[in-house]
Amino acid sequence: MTDALVSAARAAQRRAYAPYSNFHVGAALESEDGQVFAGCNVENASYGLTICAERAAIFAAVSAGVQRFRRAVVVSDIDPPAAPCGACRQVLSEFAPDLPIDGFGPRSSASWTISQLLPAAFGPEQLR
Ligand code: THU
Repeated sequence: MTDALVSAARAAQRRAYAPYSNFHVGAALESEDGQVFAGCNVENASYGLTICAERAAIFAAVSAGVQRFRRAVVVSDIDPPAAPCGACRQVLSEFAPDLPIDGFGPRSSASWTISQLLPAAFGPEQLR
């Protein structure tokens, strides 16, 4: 697949800073108004401070004033493709509880929705 969102995720993956795990991840989000926000994982010598690609992408979008999304792409170098980690599922769910996500590895792809990956999510409605 060579659509713009996949290209953005692959470009972000090339910018991953992952000297400790050597696991390079790129993510891209398409907003409802057609903008693309990308992120990569950024590791740290203090390992727990690492941020995943998916959260880097959504934080970039929200920081730019965008909170509504229609699709996400995650790329890594494994097959079957890596799905977002639990922390990223929770953060994505906050803004897009039924977000479709396409994952890509070198040779395969997979598709999920956030509600599949995080059933019975805790969300903003629980605090209202
Ligand atoms: N990582 C992501 O960027 N996204 C995920 O969904 C899973 C894990 C990163 C974090 C860390 O830099 C490396 O992959 C290995 O866990």
